[in-house]
Amino acid sequence: MGTLLRNISTLLTLQGAARKEGRQITEQDLGILSQAAVLIEKDRIAWIGPQKKLPKELAKKNHRELDLKGCTVLPGFVECHTHLIFAGDRAAEFEMRNQGVSYQEIAARGGGILSTMKKTRAASLADLVRWGQERANHFLSQGVTTLEIKSGYALNLKDELKMLQAAQKIQGVRTVSTFLGAHALPPEFKSYEEYLQFLAQEVLPEVKKKKLAQRVDIFIEKGFFPPEASEVYLRRAQELGFEVLIHADQLSLSGGSDVAVNVGALSGDHLLQVTQKEIQSLAKSEVTCVLLPTADLYMKTKYPSARAMIDSGARVALATDFNPGSSPAQDLNLVGLLARLEMKMSLPEVIGAYTVGAAHALNLQNEVGSLEVGKSADILCTEKDWQTLFYSVGESTKKVVFSRGKKVFNNLK
Ligand code: NIG
Ligand code: FE
Repeated sequence: MGTLLRNISTLLTLQGAARKEGRQITEQDLGILSQAAVLIEKDRIAWIGPQKKLPKELAKKNHRELDLKGCTVLPGFVECHTHLIFAGDRAAEFEMRNQGVSYQEIAARGGGILSTMKKTRAASLADLVRWGQERANHFLSQGVTTLEIKSGYALNLKDELKMLQAAQKIQGVRTVSTFLGAHALPPEFKSYEEYLQFLAQEVLPEVKKKKLAQRVDIFIEKGFFPPEASEVYLRRAQELGFEVLIHADQLSLSGGSDVAVNVGALSGDHLLQVTQKEIQSLAKSEVTCVLLPTADLYMKTKYPSARAMIDSGARVALATDFNPGSSPAQDLNLVGLLARLEMKMSLPEVIGAYTVGAAHALNLQNEVGSLEVGKSADILCTEKDWQTLFYSVGESTKKVVFSRGKKVFNNLK
């Protein structure tokens, strides 16, 4: 017995966007159907199409039926870049930055990532799980069905593993864990090179052995990890079987996106400092450009050149970068709104970036990001018309959310 979602006024399959692998998405690629139905069997989509065309043999089976009362249905959102697990806040640092002290200056004084590190090392696994679950629930209530979670606020073996264990215990959404030990230089080490060697030799094998993450991220930036040593580290991670990605060219043009293309990273994230030259090579590559406009808002930097990226043929994803320092924001609507207002992305491009584009960034494009027979039943049903998505902030909307075929959120009733 399956579940039949019926009385859907508009359904966005995103099938065209999936076929174009998330590049240059237009309204046609949203796959808009009217008066549609979706049949879920176990955790999969078994049928999808106009309700009138539901085959008789499928209609006859005794399905559980859910009347969606004219909702819009689309793929669950894929939030592909978060630092969900951390202790404490950095509100005092926000005030300092607002008074003119730079992010790098605060970091050099031992604040920034290192201040979150102290609190995260001291936190218990149970507390990290509890806070992480509350934050994950907030993402879920916005229609997020896939959530990436990075480590990187412990910077030692024991507590980095603790962060990844906490991430593994998050429930309700599909999670993707990423090892970001190379986030900042911890006080125990004198040089970036020495710390990267320690990570490569002692931490990555443990993460692999304990199956705590399949992905490795690094913060390539002036005053953080230099591109040459980072490339060696990422290649070592690939030899160990990890997928790799990079926090690249956020505060300065520091070589991160070149490394991303060289090593064949899944994504380069931030990318606001790149020039036409890097954009051309990103566009020709399989690297997904993950753009994080709430971080740019908080950091008072420019926004990435999404228009040039998309027009050159690059694949773009959007995400919150939720973290206590540069982006204490968990609001997908704000991300999409900034992408439209400040980065000149069209609404279909924003929807494509938060579904198919982000699915590619996680190498989950065969599983999530579009609604197709055989794919995972990760589905967002919302009372909003699709044209009113990513338009207002601060409103509460009625939704039903399915993750792997299970109803995980419902305030539509
Ligand atoms: O993505 N840029 C590096 N990492 C985070 C910031 C983390 C922090 O400040 O705590 C980011 O913006
Ligand atoms: Fe980040």
